[in-house]
Amino acid sequence: MNIIDQIITRYQENFGQMPDHIARAPGRVNLLGEHVDYNDGFVLPAAIDRATYVAFSPTDAPHSTLVAADFNQQTFFSAESISSKTQADASPLPEWGLYPAGVMWSLMQENLSVPSINAVFASDVPRGSGLSSSASVEMAFMIAWQTLGGWALPPMQLALLSQKAENKYVGVNCGIMDQFASACGAANKLLLLDCRSLEWKAVPLPENVSIVIADTTVRRKLTSGEYNKHRAACEEAVRLLQQNLPNIKSLRDVSVEEFNRLADQLPAEIEKRARHVVEEIGRSNQAEALLEAGDIQSFGRLMNECHASLRDLYEVSCPELNVMAGIAQSIEGCYGARLTGAGFGGCTVNLVAKERVDGFSKILAKSYESKTGLHPEIYITSVSNGAELLK
Ligand code: GLA
Repeated sequence: MNIIDQIITRYQENFGQMPDHIARAPGRVNLLGEHVDYNDGFVLPAAIDRATYVAFSPTDAPHSTLVAADFNQQTFFSAESISSKTQADASPLPEWGLYPAGVMWSLMQENLSVPSINAVFASDVPRGSGLSSSASVEMAFMIAWQTLGGWALPPMQLALLSQKAENKYVGVNCGIMDQFASACGAANKLLLLDCRSLEWKAVPLPENVSIVIADTTVRRKLTSGEYNKHRAACEEAVRLLQQNLPNIKSLRDVSVEEFNRLADQLPAEIEKRARHVVEEIGRSNQAEALLEAGDIQSFGRLMNECHASLRDLYEVSCPELNVMAGIAQSIEGCYGARLTGAGFGGCTVNLVAKERVDGFSKILAKSYESKTGLHPEIYITSVSNGAELLK
């Protein structure tokens, strides 16, 4: 049974009727510009064909009832219980419930109408895999409440409110990239976003290349911890660099030359983190021109450099990601391979010549398995539209 049929069936079992609506919100993969969104840099994500789906209807009940089909669990919360992060009976929300509850909270902060809903949701974006499963859950519920609330906001605005939910309610200081990609995705297009101005454009996915996602099957947990620490290191770097560069507001404002001149004034770890960001913003800055010129070779080289930098300077990789990216980079037909998303586990993104994809996937799976004993999942992703109401 496909995922939509599953949630419809589950909805009927739970609520005794058909859902009025179905919404879908995709995960994303990011090609270039990693860990730069919260430093005002440029990112190049694309919405993927894996998504969170929610079946929902309005209800007269004073609380919303949500079923997470993937966990076989249920939660219920109301406008009143939201602020204390509890369920309607005052017990704590399950962890997965923080995401939809955070969306409700974020919308309430804007005084937007957030009616009670009955909902069942499920996702084929693997959790903790670097493909933005959280943002896809948030955006799916954004669409649900927008549909029933009688208001409409531009997709970027929905993304910003989802990011606020994740920052202030869930407690992860993420940037805007994931929610943006899930909200604004466009079929067969890469999304080039300036995270400072929030201006963005859709650029065509180069012909003759496929985006291959390779899942190490190692999972991370992106709740605050390491992610927030890395973000704090970037903020500390800005504070220290401001002693010499008083006009900078973020690492976006520091050129590689300036950074090299001042780097020895930073503590070693802060220097490494900031160097990754400054150089990665430089790399992602070149993306558009390279794509326009059809120079996939050079673009792929930047992806490889990005991986090395995430591994050695930003230190968010893990042995399995390094093995996966290393093998891929050595296979004929692979332009570039690197970890995608926050890191600490999850997936690599690979840009591969279309006619080589089959061989590439087979060799990669086989060598990865023989080196790690893990059985990876490797697939071509098609680039999809952003969050939408299907019915
Ligand atoms: C996570 C965050 C994003 C971004 C990436 C790293 O996916 O949610 O905002 O910072 O990590 O690029």
